[in-house]
Amino acid sequence: MSRPNYYVTTPIYYVTDQPHIGNSYPTIAADILARYHRQCGYDVHFLTGTDEHGLKVQRAAQEHGVTPQEHADNVVQRYHDAWKLLNISHDDFIRTTEPRHERVVQMIFKKLFESGDLYLGEYRGWYCVPCETFLAGGEEQKPKCPDCGRPTEWYSEPTYFFRLSKYQEPLLKLYEEHPNFVRPEFRLNEVKSRVREGLRDLSVTRTSLEWAVPLPFDPKHRSYVWIDALTNYISAVGYGADEEQFRKRWPADVHVVGKDIIWFHAVIWPALLMAIGVEQPKMVFAHGWWTHNGKKMSKSKGNFVKPDEVASQYGVDAVRYFVMRELTFGLDGDYRDAAMLQRYNSELAGDLGNLVFRTLSMIERYFEGVIPDPASEPTCPLADGATTLYADVNDCMTSLQFSRALERIWEFVRRANTYVEERKPWQLNKEGAREKLGATMYHLAEAVRILGLLIEPYMPASAGAIRRQLGLPPETRPLQEALQWGGLPKGIRVQRGDPLFPKKE
Ligand code: MSP
Repeated sequence: MSRPNYYVTTPIYYVTDQPHIGNSYPTIAADILARYHRQCGYDVHFLTGTDEHGLKVQRAAQEHGVTPQEHADNVVQRYHDAWKLLNISHDDFIRTTEPRHERVVQMIFKKLFESGDLYLGEYRGWYCVPCETFLAGGEEQKPKCPDCGRPTEWYSEPTYFFRLSKYQEPLLKLYEEHPNFVRPEFRLNEVKSRVREGLRDLSVTRTSLEWAVPLPFDPKHRSYVWIDALTNYISAVGYGADEEQFRKRWPADVHVVGKDIIWFHAVIWPALLMAIGVEQPKMVFAHGWWTHNGKKMSKSKGNFVKPDEVASQYGVDAVRYFVMRELTFGLDGDYRDAAMLQRYNSELAGDLGNLVFRTLSMIERYFEGVIPDPASEPTCPLADGATTLYADVNDCMTSLQFSRALERIWEFVRRANTYVEERKPWQLNKEGAREKLGATMYHLAEAVRILGLLIEPYMPASAGAIRRQLGLPPETRPLQEALQWGGLPKGIRVQRGDPLFPKKE
């Protein structure tokens, strides 16, 4: 039987930026989805990459005295390094300067032109270079960009327009019929009301831009960076080149994006797909933005949270855990250094780390490191908890409620710690109650095994350490099956390691 497919994407990152907690956030979220679905037995395709064309890159390269391609080649390496450090398990990394991508951008322009959805006109208006967006307003107005507040630049040149206005009704119908298309719901409502106000045709080419994909039928015109960028989601999976791969991968299950780019993903992208006759992705999920100790992160303030710096202090898994636990995915929030320390010490070192360490220590002490037989008490109160836990976690994962999933998992961690206090293994040992002690230690070890599986998408390195300490081989069964209570074999030898999360000052 063939496995079901799952295709998840991140935004592709500008090579004018650097990896920081803001752009690591969607990448970590997508990684968690990818890892979870692999665990559940899906054939997963996880795509990330870099957005390498446009005026911003052209100018950044000029400032550095290199060609745009050299600039992109330098910066892309930083993303590769950051994703490696953060244990990101992408299956593909697309760069918009690759021929496999540029070909598809050109093909799409040709299709649009032939179908009449692309027409030549004159663009007169304002452009925000940092956001790569066009704004309404006459020449006398000199508007500031409504998104970033910076000054805009006046453009007046012949341009091709994409007939976006034609897709107003079809888009509203799409949102009506597939309310999951945009999540969270309040974002969908924002998008709907803006679309109801009407859509103007979109200028999608520049003649003044050098660093962009030329139109095949009119090469002095070059592609607007957003049309180029959005296309990555299909060019990377064989659109127009490898029909078999494309049919297997597309449509994407979820595009993870920031709230700042929801318009492009929830309006322009689906309209473009309609225009070229390609099926819609199943979901666009917009996450919120991080500030740092109450302040907006910016180059001028130099206050970006750097994942490598936090990781060198707390470990990579703690970074991944913290960003997913601290914010409700979809809402804005603040990265506070004190909150990181607090969660690390109480939830990672205190709750989970302590449970694993004491469980394995007691098995070594009381049973020479061999998992005892639970025959005298084949079940225990933890078993029921584990069954409902899977259903809850699965619901959270399919609706991208990462923080809630972790909260549920930690309820179970705490329940297991309470079980230790209730059963008092040290007392059972003193009393010589070997059978009861054996059952207690088996059930605790089983709870630890199950926790290892459930935290794997969030903290893959710690999950691996737990598995090895329990003396288990890599898990090959689908998650739901692997989570069945009693899956831990008796008689295997454990090997306690160092505490997973040593306490920090
Ligand atoms: N290149 C476009 C995306 C094209 S996708 C077809 C782009 N790139 S970006 O590098 O500027 O931003 C990438 C992502 O990082 C966005 O989803 C954005 O929301 C996210 N973040 C950047 N700073 C952020 C925070 N401070 N907090 C949370 N996410 C933020 O846009």
